[in-house]
Amino acid sequence: MRNFNEDTITQAVLERVAQAPEARTRQISEAVVRHLHALVKDLEPTQAEWEKAIAFLTRTGHMCDDKRQEFILLSDALGVSMLVDAINHRTAGSATETTVLGPFYVSSPNEYPLGANISAGVEGIPLYGFGTVASADGTPIAGATVDVWHSDGDGYYDVQQDDLDHLAMRARFRTNESGRFSFWSVCPAAYPIPDDGPVGDMLKLQGRHPYRPAHVHFMISAAGYDTLVTHVFAAGDQYLDSDVVFGVKDSLIREFIKREPGETRDSSKLDVQFFELEYNFVLSKDTA
Ligand code: BEZ
Ligand code: FE
Repeated sequence: MRNFNEDTITQAVLERVAQAPEARTRQISEAVVRHLHALVKDLEPTQAEWEKAIAFLTRTGHMCDDKRQEFILLSDALGVSMLVDAINHRTAGSATETTVLGPFYVSSPNEYPLGANISAGVEGIPLYGFGTVASADGTPIAGATVDVWHSDGDGYYDVQQDDLDHLAMRARFRTNESGRFSFWSVCPAAYPIPDDGPVGDMLKLQGRHPYRPAHVHFMISAAGYDTLVTHVFAAGDQYLDSDVVFGVKDSLIREFIKREPGETRDSSKLDVQFFELEYNFVLSKDTA
């Protein structure tokens, strides 16, 4: 077969990839060809625009290393990460809703005792985070692994700070027999996603800001339950309705409650104002 034109080439490519022996590969290949060809027919790009698109993808690839994943950032900023997340968490029921993992998770963070201060020397407004982990019927889950991570009050994670030689504002906890967890840290702030690369250029061209509302990340796992990847967002944040990665859900917003200096929930004493953040997480039973 030869002499393809804009009316015949799509079918020709579809017939070629239909030879893929593995069913899912065949399905993916066919869908990619169908949608890509439809996109090109819709846009009718000039040769120069096609070259620009290739250069954009090339720059995106060159920006990736073991610390920076520009392709995931692109997926995040185009809402694809949240779409994949939504498709994979359709039957959450009463379970806590999910949201994106983001690029600042460090696997196997240092384990701390419940109630520990995890700010590791980073200064800021004290924050007491606490809550429970339970199953949908309310049964507390003891021994659940609770990974927590968040930015500082200027919106920077530890891994973004060259002058910080240790991990901070991140920890792993195990819930107690009542399913409870608690920790001290500092209040996070809204922050821009890394916008010094092609994704940042794209946002500018699209007339968009790069900000995420202030939040604390959680990854919670327990035997027999689906691992929960989520955040708790600060009520009242100016970016709740325009999160650059489309990650906000009403059920994940909580007031960071301001407390005056004095006795704290864990019976310590603070001579400065501090904030409290409570969230009670519900895990769904592992269906796999
Ligand atoms: C984050 O919340 O850490 C994040 C999520 C997606 C893209 C960039 C940052
Ligand atoms: Fe974050």
